[in-house]
Amino acid sequence: MPGARFVRLDVTDAATVEAAAALVEAEFGRLDVLVNNAGIVRADGTAEPSATTIGTLREVFETNVYGVVTVTNAMLPLLRRAPAARIVNVSSEVGSISSLTDPASPLYALTSVPYPASKAALNMITAMYAKELRDTAIKVNAANPGYTATDFNGHHGFRTPEQAAAVCAHLATLPADGPSGLLWGHLISVDGDHNGVLAW
Ligand SMILES: NC(=O)c1ccc[n+]([C@@H]2O[C@H](COP(=O)([O-])OP(=O)(O)OC[C@H]3O[C@@H](n4cnc5c(N)ncnc54)[C@H](OP(=O)(O)O)[C@@H]3O)[C@@H](O)[C@H]2O)c1
Repeated sequence: MPGARFVRLDVTDAATVEAAAALVEAEFGRLDVLVNNAGIVRADGTAEPSATTIGTLREVFETNVYGVVTVTNAMLPLLRRAPAARIVNVSSEVGSISSLTDPASPLYALTSVPYPASKAALNMITAMYAKELRDTAIKVNAANPGYTATDFNGHHGFRTPEQAAAVCAHLATLPADGPSGLLWGHLISVDGDHNGVLAW
């Protein structure tokens, strides 16, 4: 069936997630691609770790981490019915412990805890789902769209939404011999619009 359909889904509200899964099952019987894109950013005070509040940490994890597990587990029975389902978790290089602890990285200056920790957790979640599903046709990867001009950052990002979406589309359409369990996308250390595998 061509075209797009609107389905209300709040990843922090399990009832809406279950309702969305039921709707997909009733109308399509299966799900070919799940892109876990919902994400929020919050920082406390100075954005130093010592200024982190549990409230902010919990709020960010509710959407960026628990929401992904809620949606993925609800949709997994439908994904298993597809011939070659793909799961794309929209993550970030900001979740790469390797990058944020590398003094040579442009991201080294970041010190805030909630968002980076949530994407680091999402990276681990990606790796673990990929491992569980390694003997199936389902591939699970984390996408790094790069710093993109959206509402998320007041449109200060230097990449376009089209460039960021291309990263997700690539992972959503991987061939049967494509990889699973990677963090893949924009390479900030390489000039220009280049994508590749990033260190966790
Ligand atoms: N922009 C960047 O530079 C950048 C870089 C790396 C990674 N990312 C990641 O890319 C993803 C998309 O971000 P963006 O830049 O497009 O940000 P955005 O413009 O702020 O969009 C965020 C999206 O997440 C949705 N969302 C938030 N909370 C939700 C919830 N509880 N349930 C369902 N949907 C929810 C929002 O829906 P509503 O509009 O309905 O609230 C919105 O569509 C995020 O995961 C973000 O972490 C962004």
